[in-house]
Amino acid sequence: MKFSAVLACAGLLTGSAQAWTCLSQADANNIAAQSTIFLQHLNVTEANATAQALFADGIVEYGDSINSLRGAPLGTQVENGKATYINDTLSTPPIPTINTLAVVAGCNQMVWQWEFLGIGTGANRVRGMTLITVDSGSKIVEQYVEFNSLAWGADIGFNITATAIP
Ligand SMILES: *[C@@H]1O[C@H](CO)[C@@H](O)[C@H](O)[C@H]1NC(C)=O
Ligand SMILES: *[C@@H]1O[C@H](CO)[C@@H](O)[C@H](O)[C@H]1NC(C)=O
Ligand SMILES: *[C@@H]1O[C@H](CO)[C@@H](O)[C@H](O)[C@H]1NC(C)=O
Ligand SMILES: *[C@@H]1O[C@H](CO)[C@@H](O)[C@H](O)[C@H]1NC(C)=O
Repeated sequence: MKFSAVLACAGLLTGSAQAWTCLSQADANNIAAQSTIFLQHLNVTEANATAQALFADGIVEYGDSINSLRGAPLGTQVENGKATYINDTLSTPPIPTINTLAVVAGCNQMVWQWEFLGIGTGANRVRGMTLITVDSGSKIVEQYVEFNSLAWGADIGFNITATAIP
């Protein structure tokens, strides 16, 4: 019998103090759904409340697609900390449509494949994936996001011309 089970039998632990187990598929689907509400932020109040519950205080984000869009050196950390991340995201225009294409549940990690429609001119779909890591309270502590930043850039006015590939 595990130590936590002994305590539970003795009535010393409340139900919420059970040991954390790996993300289930349903847990991962729920995280993707909550992330959609936050990133879409059609209603900022709702998006903020959702984000407050979804992210750990020390959340960090990485990913060179965003660095390329921002003109930042590759490898630059993209987000650092819950309050700034939430504020930065909620300060940008809403994303009209976010479709979930796949959710793969690991243990303390999951992959969410997604499609954003309606960025800028909305001419292009933007597809990408986020590798999400959670802590022992199932709060998101790290995101590694990569997506088609050429499509995103074209939709927000970058002048992109294809060239012959040698
Ligand atoms: C936005 O969400 C909040 C919190 O859920 C809700 O009270 C409010 O009515 C919503 N606003 C609109 C315009 O739907
Ligand atoms: C989100 O909620 C937090 C905590 O209630 C608040 O401090 C912050 O100003 C809110 N941000 C936005 C953009 O509404
Ligand atoms: C929230 O983000 C906006 C836009 O980036 C910025 O102007 C503002 O200073 C930020 N506020 C806080 C409290 O970080
Ligand atoms: C984008 O590139 C095209 C083709 O070179 C050019 O005609 C157009 O003026 C450019 N637009 C901007 C905003 O620089």
